[in-house]
Amino acid sequence: MNAIDVLQLPELRPSLERLEVLLARSAGADDPFLTEVAGHLISAGGKRLRPCLTIASALAGGGEVTEEVLLGGVAVELVHLASLYHDDVMDEATARRGVPSVNARWGNNVAVVSGDFLLARAAGIAARLGTEVAVLLADTLAALCEGQVIECQALFDVERTEEAYFAAVRGKTAALMATSCRIGAIVAGHGPDETEALTRYGMSFGMAFQVLDDVLDVVGDEEEIGKLTGQDLAEGIYTLPALRALTDRTIGPELRGLLGNRLDDADRAKARSMVASTKGVVAAIDSAREFMASAAAEVETMPCPDVGAALARLSAEMSGSVIVPAA
Ligand code: IPE
Ligand code: IPE
Ligand code: MG
Ligand code: MG
Repeated sequence: MNAIDVLQLPELRPSLERLEVLLARSAGADDPFLTEVAGHLISAGGKRLRPCLTIASALAGGGEVTEEVLLGGVAVELVHLASLYHDDVMDEATARRGVPSVNARWGNNVAVVSGDFLLARAAGIAARLGTEVAVLLADTLAALCEGQVIECQALFDVERTEEAYFAAVRGKTAALMATSCRIGAIVAGHGPDETEALTRYGMSFGMAFQVLDDVLDVVGDEEEIGKLTGQDLAEGIYTLPALRALTDRTIGPELRGLLGNRLDDADRAKARSMVASTKGVVAAIDSAREFMASAAAEVETMPCPDVGAALARLSAEMSGSVIVPAA
């Protein structure tokens, strides 16, 4: 899914080109090695979804894509990048954005400290955008940590509740999506109604986005998603499709016996195909669609209706992009 193609906003492509220059500059350091490490995932690609949300949110309320709006987009992408550096350490992931993860290439210590460096750069930019943005980004980072810690507490827990799952998703993913929209609205000077509606859009969008990412861990194509599938199951992160599969009358008991501890490659593949064979995947996609519909409802009456419609389309296309292979 390419946000530029789906949103079809003429301002988006040139804005993202300007953003790319600011992003590369913001991740630069005096030390050439730190510059290389901090730029590793930036040059590897990525969808730049959060800056797209910032830019589109600024436009939706009738604002322009100023340098400040772009810097807001840079700040949220830097927080996202840092969260990926740290997440790949936590999840022992070896690939990200189709290249070796930072931890796989340079080790955990370098991944942790360079992730911190990216956070520091994000904080500096946010401070220059004003106190409201700086406080918002700090609170979002706190929510992200909370979400990740909620997930840590449920590792290898086959009794993990869906409530605990959704609480983790809200913190680790949806909070930053909501903030990506909100910063666009704040910096562009939108009124409170538009700002709140766009924030709610981002929150619902983010919930759906993570649920679909979790579905892709079960049914995705490894080359397409740039990560290994079945990784969540192997690492003890039981997400919505797996939690639903565990309640399946036929598959559930055997799956329960397999999960609960680390899996080797053969068991990872087995667990993945067991989850894929249940209705868990379709149930999770349905749940994502509900969040996407809530997101779309928030942008129905934006001052710039075309941009509101584009944001609604982005959420619709997102859930349509996951293809469930025949069981
Ligand atoms: C990956 O986010 C992490 C999640 C929240 C699932 P993205 O899928 O937006 O990652 P990039 O930025 O395109 O690499
Ligand atoms: C996404 O978490 C990363 C953060 C939001 C911090 P996951 O661990 O679920 O995502 P992937 O699958 O590694 O991208
Ligand atoms: Mg993780
Ligand atoms: Mg991960």
